[in-house]
Amino acid sequence: MARRKYVVGNWKMNGLKSALGEAEAIFAAAGQQSAVDVALCPPFTMVGALAALPKAVVGGQDCHAAQSGAYTGSVSAPMLVDSGARLVLVGHSERREGFAESDADVKAKAEAALAAGLNVILCCGEPLSVRESGDAIAFVLNQIEHSLPDAFDADRLAIAYEPIWAIGTGLVPTLNDVSAMHGALREALRGRVGGKADQMRLLYGGSVNGENAAELLSAGDVDGALVGGASLSAAKFNPIVDAAAALAG
Ligand code: PGA
Repeated sequence: MARRKYVVGNWKMNGLKSALGEAEAIFAAAGQQSAVDVALCPPFTMVGALAALPKAVVGGQDCHAAQSGAYTGSVSAPMLVDSGARLVLVGHSERREGFAESDADVKAKAEAALAAGLNVILCCGEPLSVRESGDAIAFVLNQIEHSLPDAFDADRLAIAYEPIWAIGTGLVPTLNDVSAMHGALREALRGRVGGKADQMRLLYGGSVNGENAAELLSAGDVDGALVGGASLSAAKFNPIVDAAAALAG
């Protein structure tokens, strides 16, 4: 079954109101591409403003596992929905590493997001030491085994494989390594959801840009990209969407 390409921008802690024009230009161009799904994940403060733009599909970058309560500084999945978000990233390595989020935390967040009606992009990826020791696939499959919700609709959850050493560094894995990882992820997902794993989109993330997107997106079992730095401007992001559209035919 053909899976629609999916290109998602993660603005991280970037984006003031002055960046709205970039988002507008990104969604306007995406609206012309019928074969590609495009979404942007801005900081919480910008979710509502982006969601109000024409053709917008907006996500959060994280959510709390609880619906509400005494969690100063946190934002819940129902709050994201209330602000206009339709999806959320969970388990980004910058959350896992910088905020000590465990697989169990990521799983709880994914479950809360699905329960609130958000689609989920669950992130995974190995540090450089693990890649160098040759254990990357086992490491990532273990992350996924423990971070996936017990039950989920295959069409509401995507996986983003982002090797930590490739994020923001300009380094990218070989196509063989990307395909091997995505193939292993697909196989592991079959163990969880059977044939529905073939509907699930597996995104690659880590230094994706307009120059390397066509190649990375053509690797086996790669259904899209999660893009950080190159998602901050339409000039850099739209060529990635164009590359995905060209592959989608
Ligand atoms: P990058 O970030 O594209 O800037 O490497 C990707 C990500 O962290 O999602």
